[in-house]
Amino acid sequence: MERIYLDHAATSPLDERVLEKMIPHFSGNFGNPSSIHSFGRESRKWVDEARAQIAAEIGATEQEIIFTSGGTEADNLAIMGTALARKDLGRHIITTKIEHHAVLHTCEKLEEDGFEVTYLDVDQNGRVSANQVKEALRDDTILVTVMYGNNEVGTVQPIDEIGELLKEHQAYFHTDAVQAFGLLPIHVKNSHIDLLSVSGHKLNGPKGTGFLYASKDVKLSPLLFGGEQERKRRAGTENVPGIVGLKEAIKLSSEERDEKNEKYQSFKTIVADTLEHAGVAFEINGDKEHSLPHVLNLYFPGVSVEALLVNLDMAGVAVSSGSACTAGSVLPSHVLTAMFGDESDRLTSSIRISFGLGNTAEQVKTAAKHVADVVKRLTQ
Ligand SMILES: Cc1ncc(COP(=O)(O)O)c(C=O)c1O
Repeated sequence: MERIYLDHAATSPLDERVLEKMIPHFSGNFGNPSSIHSFGRESRKWVDEARAQIAAEIGATEQEIIFTSGGTEADNLAIMGTALARKDLGRHIITTKIEHHAVLHTCEKLEEDGFEVTYLDVDQNGRVSANQVKEALRDDTILVTVMYGNNEVGTVQPIDEIGELLKEHQAYFHTDAVQAFGLLPIHVKNSHIDLLSVSGHKLNGPKGTGFLYASKDVKLSPLLFGGEQERKRRAGTENVPGIVGLKEAIKLSSEERDEKNEKYQSFKTIVADTLEHAGVAFEINGDKEHSLPHVLNLYFPGVSVEALLVNLDMAGVAVSSGSACTAGSVLPSHVLTAMFGDESDRLTSSIRISFGLGNTAEQVKTAAKHVADVVKRLTQ
């Protein structure tokens, strides 16, 4: 049985070309970048080169890139680091109800510690407006954190408008770009972004890698203490093979962005056409106009998401519900709840399909046929 992986928003395979670049840095070039001898200097050169290339990719400078262990750490450092560094300027934070848990749970922790958080509602397409941010802004707001593209439904937020709005306000603007990075062009200065989170394993890079862009004007409290790495903002010996891999993954995703966008867009059409042709009732969750190209969230009225996922897995098709699975059961998605309310059937009858490296039109068509067959079987 051919297995078809359509869950790239959860994680993506390491690109062979990335692996090739990483291998020499596990044993041959093993020096500690902080060491002053030639072994250390060699490693330092690779880390510096990666930093420079990544900075150039987003319109930043080298000192504005902080390597992290991934998106979760980048989000934590952005939010917690800002809150701790700026608590004397205010204790109010604005975010949305559809953020990743790396953002939401960090905000919840800050609420326990005496900060006040406004969680903005979204519309039925999963979008917030810059106007909602404007209305929620206060003199004591120190941070606005709104994700670039949503991991469950793919909705893209009005980042440029929010950045513009915050230009004259003391609040920093953080965006979790873990899903959008590599597919949407990002220029931090043009979009007035102060902090931006990226994860390596969503872009065919290594797991456990990522970075936080923090503008040079941003004051951050570190969360890890120890050595003086990352300009004292993130202690710990650098993951040199990981950083080299991250750099290569970012380079490739930038070179292949347009091609991928076009391909994934056509995959969305294949899925929709196949389902329509098979006479299956479905609706798309998310914003059709402002959408990540690789994420497609579908609602099948009357179908249990657990049964659908299990049957698709048995047919070799890996998709997800887009929300957390705990002890084998699927918890209702907080994103769909924010979009449709907690009574909506969509919470228990929607799946996320996400495309990526290695997927072909044939695979997508085969997978969509399996979806159609299983949905028909389950609704008979
Ligand atoms: C939007 C978003 N933010 C943050 C994360 C966390 O990233 P990581 O797995 O690198 O910690 C994810 C991963 O699913 C994500 O989709």
